Amino acid sequence: MVKEFSSEKALQFTESVIREMTRICLKHQGVNLAQGFPDFPAPLEIKEAAIEAIRADFNQYAITWGAPNLRQAISEKFRWYNGVLIDPEREITVCCGATEAMISSLMAIVNPGEEVIVFEPFYENYGPDTILCGARPKFITLHEPDWHFDEEKLSRAFTNQTKAIILNTPNNPTGKVFSYQELKFISDLCLKWDVIAVTDEIYEHILYDGAKHISIASLPGMQDQTITINSISKTYSLTGWRVGWAIAPAHLTASIRKVHDFLTVGAPHPLQEAAAAALHIDRSYYQTLAKEYQERRDFFARVLEGAGFKVYLPNGAYYIMTDVGHFGFSDDVTFARYLVEKAGVATVPGSSFYSHPSLGATKVRFCFPKRMETLKNAAERLKRWKG
Ligand SMILES: Cc1ncc(COP(=O)(O)O)c(C=O)c1O
Repeated sequence: MVKEFSSEKALQFTESVIREMTRICLKHQGVNLAQGFPDFPAPLEIKEAAIEAIRADFNQYAITWGAPNLRQAISEKFRWYNGVLIDPEREITVCCGATEAMISSLMAIVNPGEEVIVFEPFYENYGPDTILCGARPKFITLHEPDWHFDEEKLSRAFTNQTKAIILNTPNNPTGKVFSYQELKFISDLCLKWDVIAVTDEIYEHILYDGAKHISIASLPGMQDQTITINSISKTYSLTGWRVGWAIAPAHLTASIRKVHDFLTVGAPHPLQEAAAAALHIDRSYYQTLAKEYQERRDFFARVLEGAGFKVYLPNGAYYIMTDVGHFGFSDDVTFARYLVEKAGVATVPGSSFYSHPSLGATKVRFCFPKRMETLKNAAERLKRWKG
C-alpha cells in the first residue's frame, strides 16, 4: 500500500476553481471576472506612505499583534464608522489580511468537534477554515432573490455545541447586506446560546442604492461576543499588501494573538504604517468609492441581462450572482468552462459557494472591481457570444 503523506485535513478540500478558470482564461486571452481584485490603481497617497515607511526604515518585525499607529487608526475608524469604542492596546490583532484574521480567530476559539454555523452561499475560504480548525460546520441557506434566511431553521441550528456563527456583510458572493432586524435576530440567538459572532466586514464601504452597513458588534450586548474581521484589501484596493485585523474583546484577543504569532508573526511592517495612513484618508474617499462601484454595478448588471443572464442585483460588495439554468447546461462548472472558452469571460461556478454542489448548479458569479474599459471589453465579448 502506498503511504498517504497528505493530512486528512488537507485531503478534505480541493484547490480553488478560480485558479482553473484563471488558467483557461489566460489561454484564451479572455477577461478574468472570476477572482475579485481591482485592476485599477490604489490611492497615490497610500502608496506614497508605504514608500516613505520603507525609506524611514520600518523594515523589521512590528509588534506581533500590530504597529501601534495602525491599531490606533483602526480603533478611531471603528468608532466613527461602526459606532463601537475599543481599546487598541487589548482588543486588536493585526494579521496578514482578513484571511489570516479569520483562521487565527477560529483556531483561537473553536475546539475540534464544536459546531460553527455558516450561511451559504459562502466566501469559499470559510469551508477550509472550518476543516482546518476541526469544527463541524452547519450550513444555513440564504435564499434568492433577496437572500433571506429561514428564521426557524437558524434557531434550530443553535445548540449547546455551537461555538460560533460566521457572518459576512456585505456578502460575497450574493451582495446581500444584512439588515438591522436580521442582525438583531442573529444576535438574540448568540446571546441566548452564548455563541460568538465572527463577522467578516471587508466590503463595509461598498454599498449601493443607499444601503447601510451595520456591524453586529454595535448591537446591544454583542461587543463582548463578537470578533470583527476587516482588512485594507477591498476598501483601498490593496489586495496584495496583506494587512488585515481582528477586533475582539480582550480575553479573546489574547488567544487570537497567540495563534497569530505562531502562524505568521506579523503583517509587513512598512505596509502596516501605510495602512494607518489609509485609515486616515479623507472621508469623502469612501463616498467616491461607493459611487464608482455603483456605476460599474449598474453598467455590468445591464450587460448581463442583455446577454440573457438572470441577475440578482447586489446591494453591496463587488460581485453579481446570476442564474444560468435556462441556458440548458448540465451544471455550473460545465457552463463556466464553456463561457470562458467560447466568450472569453471567466466566472466562478456557483457550486464553489455551497456545501452541496447541487445548490449552486445553475449559478455563476461575476466580479466587477475593474476599470470601465475592462468591463466594456467583457461586455463586447458577451454580446458577440450571445449573437
Ligand atoms: C468575504 C471576503 N473575506 C476575505 C477576503 C480576503 O481578504 P484579504 O485579502 O484581506 O485576506 C475576501 C476576498 O475575496 C472576501 O471576499
